[in-house]
Amino acid sequence: DSVIVLSGGLSHERDVSLRSGQRVTRALQELGVDVLEHDVDSHLITLLREHPDSVVVPLLHGEAGEDGSLREVLDLLEVPYVGSTGAACRVAFDKSIATRVVAEAGIRTPVQVALPHEIFRELGAAALVRALGQRIGFPMMVKPSRSGSALGCTRVDEPGQLPGAMVAAYAYGSVAVVEQFVEGTEVAVGVVERGDGPQALPAVEIRPESGTYDYAARYTAGETRFLCPAEIDPATAAAAAEMALRVHEVLGLAHLSRTDIMIDRSGTPVFLETNVAPGLTATSTVPIALESAGLGIGEVLLELVALARR
Ligand code: DAL
Ligand code: MG
Repeated sequence: DSVIVLSGGLSHERDVSLRSGQRVTRALQELGVDVLEHDVDSHLITLLREHPDSVVVPLLHGEAGEDGSLREVLDLLEVPYVGSTGAACRVAFDKSIATRVVAEAGIRTPVQVALPHEIFRELGAAALVRALGQRIGFPMMVKPSRSGSALGCTRVDEPGQLPGAMVAAYAYGSVAVVEQFVEGTEVAVGVVERGDGPQALPAVEIRPESGTYDYAARYTAGETRFLCPAEIDPATAAAAAEMALRVHEVLGLAHLSRTDIMIDRSGTPVFLETNVAPGLTATSTVPIALESAGLGIGEVLLELVALARR
């Protein structure tokens, strides 16, 4: 009855995933749990066959891993795992799809346009800059539709920066999303399913020293200040918690998710994205929120392992 922690893999967030994996493995071992940590490779299926009564904790971040493909393999093999199903991950991980589903449920999202690379090539940069300038306006954010940890994401303040930002996003996948940049306070709200169903963790406010919450600001200790509780008024915090719970529900997520939200200048929460495998590294926000709520990361994961076993 062991727990198998899956991390690493081949995505651009491999290194982050290894850090999440190490942290979770240590926390579970401290509770006396028999943990196997596996850097996902072609031996995965053999390993799962050798440990038939195990529960998997998938901590892969980024494209292959968070996009549902790995979990569909686990579904096929009837291996229980912590977290959302492969089908739910497919929708949630793709920003162009998730944003539409969330917006249709009445949740506020930035105006967003999804642009496959072929369209970028056919229309050409100049025409796109004009069209996007009219439809979205500046500043805007350009992101790969399917990636994480801010890789390939650029804030664009003026038309001349847009083509380069789009090329940077296409380095991570064939679809880019271009959206309004929402000025305000960024918070991350974890949702965890414990005894009484989904519960929102306290919001963590994100204040990068450089002003930009990029890859370095995420994973270098001291580059970002995290405030938990966030310095937002109680009504705004409640609205952000409500949004994270609604997103978890609307996208059919299970056990654990984290929704990233911008509180705009008028105090209204705006959905940015959700994460089906939120980072659990030393500088990630879910562990900070758990600690602030008086919850141990190992204890919570054990509860989720028990849920997954049912
Ligand atoms: N994609 C990283 C792991 C995060 O959102 O935490
Ligand atoms: Mg993400």
